[in-house]
Amino acid sequence: MTGEFELIEPEEAEGFGDEWEEIDVSDTEADRIARKRDRKFSEFRKRIKDADQFKVEQSVFDDATFAAIYKLVQDGYIEAFGGPISTGKEANVYEALGDDDTDVAVKIYRINASNFRQMRNYLEGDPRFEGIGNDKGKIVLAWVRKEFANLERARKAGVRVPEPIAVERNVLVMELVGLVEDRARRLSEVNVENPETAFEVVREYMRRLYSAGLIHGDLSEYNLIIHEGELVVIDLGQAVTIHHPNANEFLQRDCTNVASFFTRQGIDVDGDELYDYVTDVEPDN
Ligand SMILES: Nc1ncnc2c1ncn2[C@@H]1O[C@H](COP(=O)(O)OP(=O)(O)O)[C@@H](O)[C@H]1O
Ligand SMILES: [Mg+2]
Repeated sequence: MTGEFELIEPEEAEGFGDEWEEIDVSDTEADRIARKRDRKFSEFRKRIKDADQFKVEQSVFDDATFAAIYKLVQDGYIEAFGGPISTGKEANVYEALGDDDTDVAVKIYRINASNFRQMRNYLEGDPRFEGIGNDKGKIVLAWVRKEFANLERARKAGVRVPEPIAVERNVLVMELVGLVEDRARRLSEVNVENPETAFEVVREYMRRLYSAGLIHGDLSEYNLIIHEGELVVIDLGQAVTIHHPNANEFLQRDCTNVASFFTRQGIDVDGDELYDYVTDVEPDN
């Protein structure tokens, strides 16, 4: 059941925000909290470490990660944690209760497990990350900030993405697409009833992203989720600007993946055609 897909309106498509300013990855408040280890933080850490949903093997977080969560709780972005939605290669995603009784998704990067070499390849050549250096911690922090900035930029360009809410160190809080009790599904998991419209929406979002100067870089049926007929693009951590030396290669790969998924759904499209469609309009910057 996928319902009818509808494009969102790009009302806020002017201006691309200030993410071109250098992204600051210096010592964070979370690092300071972790170092100080006052009683309140220690109690919080113990409580959350013992909570069932954090007990799974892959989610052994370091102190600074607990401190980042603590800071987000103190600042009111997270009220309570729900269960894990996903435990991926580099990050775990949890459901949580956010400000004002809204459900949020909390994506926590596991710094130690992250694949730095691969991350570096995406950061290198992105003008936003000039001079980031080789420090593992800094690279992951820059990555999470980049994901936040990419979500913001995509949203402004009229691409339906989860609304980014807050970022603290290696933890990103964003709108939860769907509901805790009725979770959004990946396109790969559902039976797409109207692939024609779904494809039209996806290719329009790819085009809007491109004209906003961004290339997703990992687009496929696994990073497109749907809920109540709404298609949402997720996982923009690796998205690069069109100035990146490999931007074109990434875009071609995205087009190939998306086209092959929709070909399997019976749509007559190939990667090159999709590429031409997406790049038909010159980017603004
Ligand atoms: N904002 C969100 N709302 C609902 N589900 C989400 C959200 N973000 C991520 N997810 C779920 O978590 C999974 C992993 O998230 P993703 O950002 O793709 O991380 P990864 O890098 O591990 O692939 C997604 O496939 C999706 O099922
Ligand atoms: Mg993903």
